[in-house]
Amino acid sequence: MLWANWTGTSTVPSRALYPHQWSWDSAFIAIGLRHLSPLRAQLELETLLSAQWGDGRVPHIVFNDAVPLDAYFPGPDFWRSATAGRRAGAPAHLQTSGIVQPPVHALAVWLVHRADPGLSRARSFLARLRPRLTAWHRYLLDARDVGGAGLAAVLHPWEQGMDNSPCWDGPLGRVEPAAPGGFRRADLDHGVPEDRPTDTDYGRYVRLAAEYRDREYIDSAGPSTPTVEGSGTSTVEAPAFLVEDPAFNALLIASEYALALIEAELDRPARPARTDRPAKRAARVRCERARALTETLVARLWDPEREIFLCRDLRTDALLTERGVTGLIPLVLPALPPRIAAALVRTACGPHFGLGGVTRLVPSYDLTGPAFDLRRYWRGPAWFNTNWLVEKGLRLHGERARADALREAVLDAAGASGFAEYVDPYTGEGCGARGFGWTAALTLDLLHDGRNGTGGGDLRTERCGHE
Ligand code: SER
Repeated sequence: MLWANWTGTSTVPSRALYPHQWSWDSAFIAIGLRHLSPLRAQLELETLLSAQWGDGRVPHIVFNDAVPLDAYFPGPDFWRSATAGRRAGAPAHLQTSGIVQPPVHALAVWLVHRADPGLSRARSFLARLRPRLTAWHRYLLDARDVGGAGLAAVLHPWEQGMDNSPCWDGPLGRVEPAAPGGFRRADLDHGVPEDRPTDTDYGRYVRLAAEYRDREYIDSAGPSTPTVEGSGTSTVEAPAFLVEDPAFNALLIASEYALALIEAELDRPARPARTDRPAKRAARVRCERARALTETLVARLWDPEREIFLCRDLRTDALLTERGVTGLIPLVLPALPPRIAAALVRTACGPHFGLGGVTRLVPSYDLTGPAFDLRRYWRGPAWFNTNWLVEKGLRLHGERARADALREAVLDAAGASGFAEYVDPYTGEGCGARGFGWTAALTLDLLHDGRNGTGGGDLRTERCGHE
């Protein structure tokens, strides 16, 4: 199945629905692909990172010229990266979108390296990608630190990846949808409308993306330039949608740990000697930053009453009270205080997500929430990447029996649904596309973990820089 989606240099998430290369899809796909072909897994990540912009951003879609323009909307003629993105350093030789997706890449690069260190060294895989990963993280931690506390903000629901999560209903409500006649959705040619976002939400996604493009993809502000309405000091208009999200930032922190391991590996001297100190210091500084960012995540986004991480709306500086699976993903962080990890496990297994009780897989949104919808995209169905992350997080925090049960449930649902894009969390019935890239890849990864008993070790990086 993964071979059927392989284009020669990367993997499409789905031949029909998503016929180009997607950023976080490619990272998850590489994590699975490494067990079949470490070389292809390396190429997958190299292809994506070669589309990086001069300002460090890694675009969420890299377009394939050979695919007809009307096969996907919004396509290259909408984003116009080579012209509208010139000031931000978009590549001239290929076409991409202008927004980003969650930064799972350094983690994927590290795991792919570990699958075949000999091949990786022979191809200078880590050495070639390290500057790109460093620039990517710098972009997120500087240009996207709009809130000024150290976390990265997203300016479009597609950047966070859980497109129509009810978490966004509040902030998206401020966005006037683009006129329905002004664009044609291609997703409905391949998907059942009940499984996809509504036309109104689509109109809002289009409006937000067009406005960012028309600002030439220049990020409006950093911490020193207040952007929140009413501050009165900003000369640059802030995007209508501006959110600090728990999963996006937890994945950035997990990738910071991975980047520290990459640095430690590359800077390891040939002969162990006194000279190894400065090299280790670089990795240690990055690890310490990852720990400090974990503390910031807790300080900014943890809700002790609901026992879940919430999203912060930077336009109002208030937490959004909807419970989404995004709020469970920080379980992947090794430096999470044990009382918070324990509370997250209670929440995952309680009435809102039902794990180990009424649901087979963790749903994307609160089972008891007013907006819960069994089938519609990110408003209830269970996704395989988020379940893979929760499985890793449970294992990391010593919840072995729960992790084993979730792994079995994921493997069953993936196979029985024909590697569906997402599934009904109660029954495992498939929704959206079939033959979906990251579903197949992460299944492979869990199968491999099961055989080798290595699950969770992938994220056990808390001692990085101290070995
Ligand atoms: N996930 C979005 C889509 O459905 C955009 O990346 O097309």
